[in-house]
Amino acid sequence: MKTILVTGGAGFIGSNFVQFLYKNYKDHKIIVLDALTYAGRPENIPQEIHNDGKRFEFLRGDVCNGGLVDSLVGRSDIVVHFAAESHVARSIFDNKIFYETDVLGTQAVATAVVKHYQTVERFIHISTSEVYGTSEYEPMDEKHPLNPCSPYASAKCGADRLVYSFIHTYDMPAVILRPFNQYGPYQHLEKVISRFITSALSNEPLTIHGDGQAKRDWLYVEDTCQRIDLALRAPMERIRGDVFNIGSGEVLSVIDIAHMVLELTGRPKSLIAFIGDRPGQVQNHRSSTDKAEKVLGMRPGRPFREGLQQTIAWFKDNEEWWQKIEWMKHIKIMTKSGEYELH
Ligand SMILES: NC(=O)c1ccc[n+]([C@@H]2O[C@H](COP(=O)([O-])OP(=O)(O)OC[C@H]3O[C@@H](n4cnc5c(N)ncnc54)[C@H](O)[C@@H]3O)[C@@H](O)[C@H]2O)c1
Repeated sequence: MKTILVTGGAGFIGSNFVQFLYKNYKDHKIIVLDALTYAGRPENIPQEIHNDGKRFEFLRGDVCNGGLVDSLVGRSDIVVHFAAESHVARSIFDNKIFYETDVLGTQAVATAVVKHYQTVERFIHISTSEVYGTSEYEPMDEKHPLNPCSPYASAKCGADRLVYSFIHTYDMPAVILRPFNQYGPYQHLEKVISRFITSALSNEPLTIHGDGQAKRDWLYVEDTCQRIDLALRAPMERIRGDVFNIGSGEVLSVIDIAHMVLELTGRPKSLIAFIGDRPGQVQNHRSSTDKAEKVLGMRPGRPFREGLQQTIAWFKDNEEWWQKIEWMKHIKIMTKSGEYELH
């Protein structure tokens, strides 16, 4: 039985990925390491999985703790590293923890992978498209310059380049994935789509940064998990040391999404409210999907509208899950004009 270590497995993408692994890798054991920050919740992983002591182990702990990480990597064949501070607005409010977790946490994981090179066959580092900053050309391929625009993006960029340097220095068996914007079940309400959906369901204003024209490339989280899985299954010699965008190529502006959420929840357009622009905002992102299609065999995911309908249905069915964290939907930050605003 092989063992897969998932860091950050109690967060949004990590918990969806743990459910995916549990369903599709029946002959594997899954170990989750998660510090259970405000963003991680053990109940994001179904009780059935927690109860399966043979195939599942949950450890509450800090990914920056080198000794702890080393002991877990030493028991693992595959490592998938999600653990991070992940919210741009929070990184504007207080950036130190972002560099600690995102950079030093990755340093701890990568160092352990190098040390256990004889047993760890594959390390998948989950980076982000935010490392690119606003697009200089579209669609953005993996050779796009790295111009991170927020503290979150620069911390993730540091981690991304750290992994790259370890690949070159220590011949680490790693691959770097750069997901674009994800949405779906279990996403924290601080992120725009879950915030819009829950605001609409509560008949509260959908607040939009700036003019709402910032455009992003959107992917439903189950489709993200399938793409990470492609990197798990691809022959290592084909992907070792490489970087892949994980995107859809389907781009929508924030205002378009707000309108679609209101239409699908049957709420009036008058719920839309504009606030100041977010500092560190990235204007346009469209992923090139060419490389992942050619090398990993990536196929198109579901259309955005379908994924959004599924996400709305999940939030309608799981009110208890999101009502507990509704108070964390907004964060107070200083905007470019020097005013404090809830973002
Ligand atoms: N959500 C997106 O749209 C998106 C897009 C691109 C990349 N990513 C990347 O994917 C990964 C997962 O993102 P997400 O949206 O699921 O994030 P999330 O904030 O929902 O989850 C992060 C998880 O990491 C855990 N964590 C935080 N600090 C930790 C520490 N010191 N030790 C151990 N665990 C810790 C949290 O408890 C939480 O469970 C991150 O690396 C993020 O940068 C996310």
